[in-house]
Amino acid sequence: MSNKLRAVITGVGGYVPDYVLTNKELETIVDTNDEWITSRTGIKERRILKGKDQGTSVLANHAVDQLLEKTGVNPEEIDLIICATTTPDMIFPATANLVGEHIGAKNAFGYDLQAACSGFLYALTTASQFICSGTYKKVIVVGADKMSSIIDYQDRTTCIIFGDGAAAVMLEPTEEPLGLVDSILRSDGSGAPFLHLKAGGSRRPATIESVTAREHFVYQEGATVFKYAVKHMSDVAAQIMQRNDLTANDIQWLVPHQANKRIIDATASRMGIGEDRTMFNIHRYGNTTSATIPLCLWDYESQLKKGDNLILAAFGGGFTWGASYLKWGYDGQ
Ligand code: UT7
Repeated sequence: MSNKLRAVITGVGGYVPDYVLTNKELETIVDTNDEWITSRTGIKERRILKGKDQGTSVLANHAVDQLLEKTGVNPEEIDLIICATTTPDMIFPATANLVGEHIGAKNAFGYDLQAACSGFLYALTTASQFICSGTYKKVIVVGADKMSSIIDYQDRTTCIIFGDGAAAVMLEPTEEPLGLVDSILRSDGSGAPFLHLKAGGSRRPATIESVTAREHFVYQEGATVFKYAVKHMSDVAAQIMQRNDLTANDIQWLVPHQANKRIIDATASRMGIGEDRTMFNIHRYGNTTSATIPLCLWDYESQLKKGDNLILAAFGGGFTWGASYLKWGYDGQ
């Protein structure tokens, strides 16, 4: 009898656009300053995708191109592409379809998954089910967001936070004790009033008035979201440790969603994990929504070892939140 199948990450690709939007430049756009942004969020700069008709698929395509190059997987072997994004190129078709077309994934199907900043965790967990059931053998999960497309650069409370980026992982089956072990995912729609995009959906389609009123941008009540983020992200991280009998010493890396350094620090401290074992790149990319967690894996890949225990944790719009426990599949180069 064969062992239980698990879904393991066998490669990571990433991409951030070239344009660097620094705190200094933001000082010339809104009433803010480097000291406030750094001390309140930990962010120093973020990347912005410039150019006409450049959507989220541009970011995702670069990340997936690199993933295929690194893993050597033939695009025709891909079964499924899940794109976690809150900023799809268009309401339809799905950005995943555009990525599939770009790479020539002729035998795959694909769809987008929208869970704001928890999108990558939701997508990873969903993808894993298709692998564990034995249905598919090669699944790409890409987290990609062009947040600059929904940010109001007249609103200093949000424009300092977000950036653009994408990163992708390949998931494959294994019978070794590696890969995604457990996830706890949650959502609570009562959080919607505190973090949302007012217009452009079916409830309030775009009108001249909605554009003039600047309703096609992220609306966030920062302090309220902050409070829930700290509580839920650290609760769920502690919960997944407990239910898998993990102590802080068993965990090699915490991979937190990068929304605010203070939220990351609170989660790490609750778990008893030091800064040396907490992935952190918000200072360089800001909050890239669905891309933060895979971009961390991309940045830290060379330091990861086969069998390392990772806890991934996120909180975002919805509200949505969750944590995953995974055992890393290969030694970093
Ligand atoms: O990833 C998706 C989920 N999102 C999050 O997790 C974000 C959670 N929230 C946060 O990270 C923080 O709430 C923010 C970074 C958004 C804001 O930080 P805060 O410490 O909660 O600030 P605040 O909103 O309570 O504002 C404090 C003060 C206010 O001034 P007054 O009213 O005290 O005079 C703001 O007007 O800071 C002011 N302020 C700024 N000052 C300089 C707000 N934004 C800025 C700014 N520069 N960019």
